[in-house]
Amino acid sequence: MNFSKLFEETRPILISSSPHITLYVKQEITALGFEVMSEGFTTVETQGTFDDAIRFNIQLRTGNHVYFLVEKLLASSVEELYAGIRKIEWEEILIEDGYFSVHSVTDHPEIQNTMFLNLRIKDAVADRFQEVRNKRPDSGSEKNRSVIFVYWKSNEALVYIDTSGDPLTKHGYRKISLRAPLQESLAAAMVMSTRWDKKGAFVNPMCGSGTLAIEAALMACDKSPGLIRDNFGFMHVKGYNPETFRTIQKQAEEKIAATIPCKIIAGDIDHEALRAARTNAENAGVDHLIEFIKSDFQNTPIPDHVGVVMFNPPYGERLGATDQLENTYAQIGDFLKKNCRGYWGYVFTANPMLAKKIGLKAKRKIDFYNGQLKCKLLEYELYEGSKKRDRELA
Ligand SMILES: C[S@@+](CC[C@H](N)C(=O)[O-])C[C@H]1O[C@@H](n2cnc3c(N)ncnc32)[C@H](O)[C@@H]1O
Repeated sequence: MNFSKLFEETRPILISSSPHITLYVKQEITALGFEVMSEGFTTVETQGTFDDAIRFNIQLRTGNHVYFLVEKLLASSVEELYAGIRKIEWEEILIEDGYFSVHSVTDHPEIQNTMFLNLRIKDAVADRFQEVRNKRPDSGSEKNRSVIFVYWKSNEALVYIDTSGDPLTKHGYRKISLRAPLQESLAAAMVMSTRWDKKGAFVNPMCGSGTLAIEAALMACDKSPGLIRDNFGFMHVKGYNPETFRTIQKQAEEKIAATIPCKIIAGDIDHEALRAARTNAENAGVDHLIEFIKSDFQNTPIPDHVGVVMFNPPYGERLGATDQLENTYAQIGDFLKKNCRGYWGYVFTANPMLAKKIGLKAKRKIDFYNGQLKCKLLEYELYEGSKKRDRELA
């Protein structure tokens, strides 16, 4: 293969995500006009050029990493893998005076710890450089410059450039994290999983550091999360052209709406949480689109233009004790029933016992993981009908 043309070719692009989020990654890449070629439990494969990989990094809300395929190798042992990787013309891909790191995933029985594999891959790349250029780039574990990713399963190894570097799960606006913040990509997937049409209200009592409301605001004004970040893996390889990147950024910037048709409300009882949410929203450039309210969730104003009310309450694993929370969950159920008629209500929890205290029948239970914790986003249809009946009975 002629590696000097690598960055101009259409090649497989693999997008990784957290479990249960591939559905939303698929929606996003399809909306961007790309075809889904295949999918796994935490990956979606499409194809495109290196510039398309840049676009994904800027625009995807729910992905973790965007991997651009360099080479497919046959290797049944570590030494065969070393030899195959050493044959790749890394001098056409990596910057000579640069810095690179390696990460890998394998099911190979010889490998107990991928650190050993990563070292061997690093040696192969460095030895190649030494051989053809008589010098070698620096390497280490930091993911903020060139990153090579190898997926080695059975006898096949897929060698990629990780065009994201540091994971896209962080959208770059959260400078202040409080207790139990949601990952930004998870929050985006949660918002995408709801029935919110971006015209009705999005209400987020118990907003914490504001992740759900900020993701909702980014979606409502069509601002790509990658516009908030200033460093990506793709910037540290030879195919990177800053002018192309600037054009892609400009195209994304031009789509941003100055105003939005819906109300977005973020409330929290805790002053510090609200301060963090406001600062994070400022960093994301969407603070003007969110109404921040310091109040107990039971006093959150609910706009007439019905939409979605979403709760991410403490659930006992990491914050507060479960028994103290039973009352809170029962009150959330009452609040949804009495104050949010006509809305779709959502409660995100890892605690099924607490969820029962809400006292409403869930229409859907949407699976997610929050870190290692299995969670459900419970969806409630809060019928308008009972409101009419109440008025008639009054
Ligand atoms: C799990 S955290 C929310 C995390 C948030 N999704 C994030 O990404 O940062 C729960 C939040 O509920 C707030 N909270 C607890 N009891 C409350 C109440 N009665 N009314 C309003 N907020 C409350 C806490 O202050 C905390 O910020």
